[in-house]
Amino acid sequence: MSFAVAADLYDRFMGKYSVLLSPQLADFAAVSRGQRALDVGCGPGALTTELVARLGPAAVSAVDPSQSFVEAARERHPGVEVQEAAAERLPFGAGAFDATLAQLVVHFMPDPIAGLAEMKRVTRAGGVVAACVWDHGGGQGPLSLFWRPAHELDPDVEDESELPGVREGHLAELFERAGLRELERTVLESAVEHESFDDWWEPFTLGVGPAGSYVAGLDDRRRIELRERCRALIPPAPFTIVAHAWAARGRV
Ligand SMILES: C[S@@+](CC[C@H](N)C(=O)[O-])C[C@H]1O[C@@H](n2cnc3c(N)ncnc32)[C@H](O)[C@@H]1O
Repeated sequence: MSFAVAADLYDRFMGKYSVLLSPQLADFAAVSRGQRALDVGCGPGALTTELVARLGPAAVSAVDPSQSFVEAARERHPGVEVQEAAAERLPFGAGAFDATLAQLVVHFMPDPIAGLAEMKRVTRAGGVVAACVWDHGGGQGPLSLFWRPAHELDPDVEDESELPGVREGHLAELFERAGLRELERTVLESAVEHESFDDWWEPFTLGVGPAGSYVAGLDDRRRIELRERCRALIPPAPFTIVAHAWAARGRV
């Protein structure tokens, strides 16, 4: 599993981008004081931090199937109930939460409709289920400048463009198939400045997520070839990567 990695490595790679989505996703789901919320696929806790700031730790629960992330989320969020579990089998009773959110997770679920249906089950009637995934399908995700040259060098590479929910409209389609109603969708944005090419490239070598696993599997020659192809595409430093995420929300 490409997320069985230390939390600080995740922070240096995807965490830099995901933390900027959290307030936007919480706003989109209208998370507000007095509610109980669940963070599904919490990772080390980017969205958990935002939920705790709004609701307090006792009103927030979080789950993730990665043991290292669960340990980090527990350490970083004292008072939050963090459990090792996948979206498809949530360890909560029906209607336990006012809002159930998944940030950058649906595209990794082996069965996204079952995962979203479980998120619906643990949310009370009238409550909100919300999620976002990167626009890997439309080429405006944070990794697009990596996957494009990777694909040129290796046409068989499994980039993330075919994953569920990553093309426009597909996330909302999955919500509908999971039985959610009053669907709404929007686009969230995350802009991260990189001070040099190395600052951008080094996180790809940490083994995090599908891109990190791909780099880890290359021999030296192919890794250097890919790195230099990326270098030719990256704007002069410092440069900012602006990434888009599709978001959907629905009511139970
Ligand atoms: C890109 S990370 C997102 C982490 C965090 N939500 C964030 O925004 O930084 C994807 C997360 O989904 C988790 N994940 C993978 N499959 C999952 C599943 N079936 N159910 C719940 N979480 C899953 C991974 O362990 C990982 O923590």
